[in-house]
Amino acid sequence: MRTDRTVRDLWYKDAIVYGLDVETFADGDGDGVGDFKGLTERLGYLAGLGVSCLWLMPFYPTPNRDNGYDITDYYDVDPRLGTLGDFVQFSHEAKGYGLRVVVDLVLNHTSDEHPWFQAARKDPKSPYRDWYVWAKKKPPHPEKGVVFPGVQKTIWTWDRAARAYYYHRFYDFQPDLNVTTPAVREEMQRIMGFWLQLGVSGFRVDAAPFLIESYGVPGHEKDDPFVHLKEMHDFLSWREGDAVMLAEANVGTDKLLDYFGDGDRMQLLYNFPVNQQLFLALVRGEAAPLVKALKELPPLPEAGQWATFLRNADEIDLGRLSDEERAEVYAACGPEKSMQLYDRGVRRRLAPMLNGDSRKIALAFSLLFSLPGTPIVYYGDELGMGDDLSLPERNSVRTPMQWSGEVNGGFSTAPRDKLVRPVISGGPYGYENLNVVWAQRDLDSTLNKVERLMRTYKQCPELGWGKWRTVEADSPAVLAHRSDWRNESILVVHNLGQSPCTVTLKDAAEEPTRVVELISDGAYQDILDTAHPILLEGYGYRWFRLAGKGRPD
Ligand code: NOJ
Repeated sequence: MRTDRTVRDLWYKDAIVYGLDVETFADGDGDGVGDFKGLTERLGYLAGLGVSCLWLMPFYPTPNRDNGYDITDYYDVDPRLGTLGDFVQFSHEAKGYGLRVVVDLVLNHTSDEHPWFQAARKDPKSPYRDWYVWAKKKPPHPEKGVVFPGVQKTIWTWDRAARAYYYHRFYDFQPDLNVTTPAVREEMQRIMGFWLQLGVSGFRVDAAPFLIESYGVPGHEKDDPFVHLKEMHDFLSWREGDAVMLAEANVGTDKLLDYFGDGDRMQLLYNFPVNQQLFLALVRGEAAPLVKALKELPPLPEAGQWATFLRNADEIDLGRLSDEERAEVYAACGPEKSMQLYDRGVRRRLAPMLNGDSRKIALAFSLLFSLPGTPIVYYGDELGMGDDLSLPERNSVRTPMQWSGEVNGGFSTAPRDKLVRPVISGGPYGYENLNVVWAQRDLDSTLNKVERLMRTYKQCPELGWGKWRTVEADSPAVLAHRSDWRNESILVVHNLGQSPCTVTLKDAAEEPTRVVELISDGAYQDILDTAHPILLEGYGYRWFRLAGKGRPD
């Protein structure tokens, strides 16, 4: 490895992010609920895995009707999960392991039990009245724009105490904050400042498009919503120069750039368009959908970066596929009605969506780490954990982490009926067969493959920093792409099909260039150069570094 690299201050460009929910990760005090003490004890596992940044889902006081995304106090820790002291201890120890921490910033809405909303609804003269969005008369088409169809009926709900309708993009117990009110924006900054002071490196900005909308509040109909993102960005950079915002904005391709601005809004944006096409490509065993999605991505400002992911704590949203394409993904990944959700997605984890096929799961991870962007791993997916469809809505994919074959999968010593959610038990995904201890011993486990991919990814800064392009391959099953950075290049090939194939690349390099193989799904004969036919097993993958550019290797 060359060591003369100069400044690489944009740490998030080639970070490995690991998303987890404190509540279901590890229980340190034996009460059945995951907590900061348990998480702190498991930092060694995360550092050992190769992760460099943790994204914590909401851990604030909450009635917990939407997995913590309904907050009653932004300046504290849910007492079930610990104290602020426990948080600071955790953030300090994470730093010791070289792990950064990003926390969920849920400011589009509060819980309806938040004191601000309670004050606002009870008294029209309350200073908090304007913190929310009200309408005296029922606005037209209140059913339009619901986020959880089938569960949520309206976005305007009548409040008897307020004698008005309040606006809520999500469930009726999550009233939207009014971003057009200056005091609300000031409070948002105070909240960011508070957690920065406690050691976090940034925020995952929940529901970004809804957070910034001005809902037709009189006098604000023509506001530019993106001004708010710039304001947040400026505040953040004044307080903590290298802190970042990772925005959740599931919007059309033509709107993606709005969230980056000129590099003066969000630093990272989840790559929803690629996520949906990636699953379609996996289902079809064809690269075309993914190639198309990649080619449609707009070029980003220098400070911008995609956040690539396979699954997260929600349903996988297939809403931007055509009806036929979605039906194809349903048929392969979630054929039963009970596996589907909100008329648009699948509420299953990665491994069951891929029928537990370990080769296909490894292929998906190889894509995750090599596609343009910063990879985000959802806790438990590195093991190939399963789902529990008996749990309601999205809770199916939020079961406790499976640490060992001990009682409750090593998640908690509490009696089983006290667990925050049941641990998956029995069958191929049960903790008895699938857990960290077992997977670490088995060299062929998904966990060990993911660990090796992470290690290789860390040696390939070209992937996170470079200028990338797809490479033409003469097999429809093969996705090939290349990333160049500082006179060095990585070339990656993936066979999305189940049969072995030999592929020749058309434009991998201007002239045949010698390659060094970095990682692959199995043992292959070396290829000489980029012009050489490349053998790939079914669902095989191979990563190469182009040599011969003065590199010692
Ligand atoms: C997006 C989160 O990912 C989801 O879990 C939550 O329900 C909504 N935002 C509302 O906060």
